[in-house]
Amino acid sequence: MHERKSKGSKKKVCEDDDEYQPSMDDNLLSSSSEDDNDDLEEVTRMAPGRRSKNVTPSTSVPEMRILVASNQPPQCTRSELPYPEPSSIAQPDQLESPQTIGSSVGSVPSARRNVRGATRGKGTERLVRQLGHAISVPIPSSSGAPEGEHATSLANEIGKEIRTSAPVRNCGWDNIDAGIREAIITRVRTKSDKAKVSRSKLPYNHISGSRSFAAAMLLIERLVNKTIEQSQPEVTSPMNEFEISIEVLGRRPGYLKGYGIHLRGSSSTRLKAQLQVGFYANTCPQAEFIVRSEVQRALSGNAGLGAGLVRMHFHDCFVRGCDGSVLIDSTSSNTAEKDSPINNPSLRGFEVIDNAKTRLEAACSGVVSCADILAFAARDSVAWTGGFRYQVPAGRRDGRVSLSSDTFTNLPGPSLGVSQLTQSFANKGLTQDEMVTLSGAHTLGRSHCTSFSNRLYSFNSTVSQDPTLDPTYAAFLKRQCPQGSNDTSLVVPMDPGSPTRFDASYYNNIIANRGLFTSDQSLGSDSGTSSQVRANAFNGGLWKSKFSQAMVKMGKIGVLTGSDGEIRKNCRVIN
Ligand code: HEM
Repeated sequence: MHERKSKGSKKKVCEDDDEYQPSMDDNLLSSSSEDDNDDLEEVTRMAPGRRSKNVTPSTSVPEMRILVASNQPPQCTRSELPYPEPSSIAQPDQLESPQTIGSSVGSVPSARRNVRGATRGKGTERLVRQLGHAISVPIPSSSGAPEGEHATSLANEIGKEIRTSAPVRNCGWDNIDAGIREAIITRVRTKSDKAKVSRSKLPYNHISGSRSFAAAMLLIERLVNKTIEQSQPEVTSPMNEFEISIEVLGRRPGYLKGYGIHLRGSSSTRLKAQLQVGFYANTCPQAEFIVRSEVQRALSGNAGLGAGLVRMHFHDCFVRGCDGSVLIDSTSSNTAEKDSPINNPSLRGFEVIDNAKTRLEAACSGVVSCADILAFAARDSVAWTGGFRYQVPAGRRDGRVSLSSDTFTNLPGPSLGVSQLTQSFANKGLTQDEMVTLSGAHTLGRSHCTSFSNRLYSFNSTVSQDPTLDPTYAAFLKRQCPQGSNDTSLVVPMDPGSPTRFDASYYNNIIANRGLFTSDQSLGSDSGTSSQVRANAFNGGLWKSKFSQAMVKMGKIGVLTGSDGEIRKNCRVIN
């Protein structure tokens, strides 16, 4: 550990001493602006389920031909009949000219025959209930007809639809006006498509779930009711979301916590797995607790490590996605990300991840990925230093590649301006607002002098010192980072007033022209971002909330899930 003396205060400053606060001798005003929302927690709430009255089995109808057998003479051609649009299709008794196509009046023979009644689709309904999912019926374009064991079910379903919307029983399909036929087909298709759209809007995955739609809706309703019940003021020790999920859903591997659906399906229905909050609830329930306790232990000894872990997660996600590649050690044949000059010697906190991993391997071997440990640790660092605690969707898997060269093209540098920063974040699917929000992480931690000394001594060919930098602050920085010093371990706090507090003072610093990097300061002068800087400075609670959301989004960049990648046994080494 490097030690040096601060010129002004004569206080010894260690490289890892983030509690160092410049004294008044340093002529630096604190610009901390504590907001009073520190106790707030941001909780991702479960979206209430949408209720749908109609439960329609999905039938795949890529191409269809419907034959309605009939012995009746053709009486049904009425091309002048304006067939209503599918959405406004009338019921049989509302149709204009019943004798034309109706089955109950007009041309229907009056004599009662002892025939089997038309199917009411009960069998199909029962089958769908038993299977727990919609029936898929292939209609190959070669034959143009439904095939397979459920072909009859589809035909029945279509027949039912036709009877209720356009009775053609006694006309014969071939004898019906082409326009009317087209409208009937459109209606059947629309019904199926509408059901598909409704399902796609559901807050859970209906297609790959093993429950019937109705059963899943019931569970969602129970979850919502339970959540509301538990949030009532008279409930003294409310259940958390895990407990609610377990009570309502029971313990079952693979559950999407809080949504009651498990993602395993047949290989044909399996979707690419998504990150899930509570991913380890069944496989390693203590996972998040272990990480949190390791982070707390580490930060109690050196609060600055919190900054290190937040930055490490950012550097992991921006290079090859959040796959823990930043944690991999170099080998004799490969210089890994962590040994790029962008990361070495500035990245810190690796040992916190190692310690958590060791404990997790002892508790549940081969289950918790290093990428997830890092995502949890970053969240715990934000929370520990005063940010909002947010829920981290997990299920990331670890990558097997880590290249130093990747860091240069993916990580933004401190000399960038707003448009380049915006582009850099856009490349990762993040907005300009999220870029401004996430940059607020510079309220924590420190920087090596080498990262910004150009602003003090070699700004451009005309001026040596960046004119946008507050002169008092520049003088302070110059004392901390003497010109010509080749001590690469010299560091300064990025938010000198409160380097270990997750507060909005970063934005106040920018407003006071005390942003440490060009990348920070430019956010305050650009017309597209300056209003966000002011808004975040003004409302620290809102910024913290936005920060949590942006971290969740950043944590999803390029993740490996399902069977991709691996679960490293040792975060430093590929299995
Ligand atoms: C907007 C573009 C960004 C640039 C150009 C940038 C650049 C830098 C640089 C140059 C340092 C100092 C490294 C050193 O010399 O020690 C630093 C530190 C830090 N950065 Fe960023 N950063 C950016 C965005 C972010 C984001 C998005 C986060 C997290 C969400 C973040 C978190 C941090 C933290 C916490 C530190 C302090 C690390 C420590 O104390 O160990 N940065 N950043």
